[in-house]
Amino acid sequence: MGRLLDKVKIFEFSKVCDPRGNLSFIEEGCHVPFSIKRVFYIYDVPGGETRGGHAHRENSTVLIAVSGSFDLHLSDGEDEIVVRMNRANKGVLIPPGVWDSMHDFTTGTVCLALCDHHYEEEDYIRDLDEYNEFLKSLRN
Ligand code: TYD
Repeated sequence: MGRLLDKVKIFEFSKVCDPRGNLSFIEEGCHVPFSIKRVFYIYDVPGGETRGGHAHRENSTVLIAVSGSFDLHLSDGEDEIVVRMNRANKGVLIPPGVWDSMHDFTTGTVCLALCDHHYEEEDYIRDLDEYNEFLKSLRN
C-alpha cells in the first residue's frame, strides 16, 4: 500500500479576472476527478472552533475556502500535512482513508465541499481506535 497522503491532490482552478470581480468554475470529471454527488458548505464558524475530525471509508471530498481562510490538517495515521486554505481558486482532494480536521478559521470563512458520495453516516470513521483498525485492514 502506498502512502495515503500521496493521494491528496491540490488543484488550482482557473480564475477569470475581470474589473467586475473574479470568477472560477469547476466541472465534474474535468477539474475534479469524480462525478459530484453532493455539495455542502461550512460557514459562521465561531472563533477557535474546529471542524472535521474524521476519515471516510469510500467518500472523496474536494474542499475549497471560497471566502476567508483556515488550516486543513491531513493525516494518514503516521504523517501529517497542513495546507493553508486561503484562496478561492484552490481545492484540496481528500481521498478515502485520510483523516482531516479544519482549524484556525478566520471570521466570515465559507468552506465549500464537493463529494463523490451521498451522505452516509456509516461511511464516517470518527473514532481514532476505529481509524487505526481501518488502517490495519488496508495493510492486510
Ligand atoms: P460533519 O460531517 O460531522 O461535520 P464536519 O464538516 O465538521 O466534519 O457533519 C455534521 C452534521 O451534519 C452531522 O450530524 C451530519 C450532518 N450532515 C448531513 O446531514 N449531510 C452532509 O452532507 C454532511 C456533510 C453532514
